[in-house]
Amino acid sequence: MRAKPWAESSDVGCIVEEFSLLIAQLSDLHVTPAGDPISGGNRERLEKVLDTILGFGRKPDLIVVTGDIAEHGDIESYRLFIDVMAKAALPWTATLGNHDRNEAFSASLAEAPDCGFRAGRVHIFEEWALVLADTSAEPHHGGWFDEGRAGQLARDLASTAHLSTLLAIHHPPIAIGLDWIDPDPDSDWIKRLGECLAGQAQVKLIICGHVHVAASGSFKEIPVTICPSIAQPGWPDLSPLDRERPDGRPLIIEGPPAFALHHSYAGRVTTVFGTARTGEVLFAYDGTRGLGIVKGMVEPEVSR
Ligand SMILES: [Fe+2]
Repeated sequence: MRAKPWAESSDVGCIVEEFSLLIAQLSDLHVTPAGDPISGGNRERLEKVLDTILGFGRKPDLIVVTGDIAEHGDIESYRLFIDVMAKAALPWTATLGNHDRNEAFSASLAEAPDCGFRAGRVHIFEEWALVLADTSAEPHHGGWFDEGRAGQLARDLASTAHLSTLLAIHHPPIAIGLDWIDPDPDSDWIKRLGECLAGQAQVKLIICGHVHVAASGSFKEIPVTICPSIAQPGWPDLSPLDRERPDGRPLIIEGPPAFALHHSYAGRVTTVFGTARTGEVLFAYDGTRGLGIVKGMVEPEVSR
């Protein structure tokens, strides 16, 4: 007997519900004034990503920036960043990273009341909530999460207990195998964050940045998604590092600026990663066969 084609093997196919929330995440921008040999082009990289996002048919409901906005935490760089965000004219919010300085960022925000910034740690979208927490503290390169922050996060999560919640922080609370930047899983800040999140079923996803590569994992049974960077990307060589014998391995390489899109779907959230559009369109949806050939391609012969 001939097997049924796979498409007929089930009465029910994919049920797609309306995506109810779309959040774009930008991370690790490292903006500096022009002229910096490594980071001087990061403002332009941010502009390219925002141009890409603005070209989409559906615009995000909110952009969340997860830290390391300014390479040197200086007010001039924050002004440049805020100017770019204001021109995009999309609502945005932010949490800070280890390169940031709260005072300078807040001062530059106060100068630009119409830049689209949404203040506050808790943002509510009908049945979803985005909660921001700060894991940065001068002069630490790694994470910092003290009792005060733990108490604040506990109160914020209590206020959104009835909502599916995304938690945005800068530092991943997990190691991903990049020895030069991974946190110690036994560090105090990770233990404290873990105590805060244990049993918090409302938290559907932790989104973070810091390591400049796209990655995923889990923490206290909560999925963790790490957004790649606007600044130059990291190099995902997962071989063990011998700190006694520097091997000259790449850490940061040249590559396109990247972002993440988090969208809610049937009570869960999924993530799509993208890079700034830098090239020509090769295929476009033409409404009939799915893929319309646009440029430089030879149309295959179709048997009739
Ligand atoms: Fe960072």
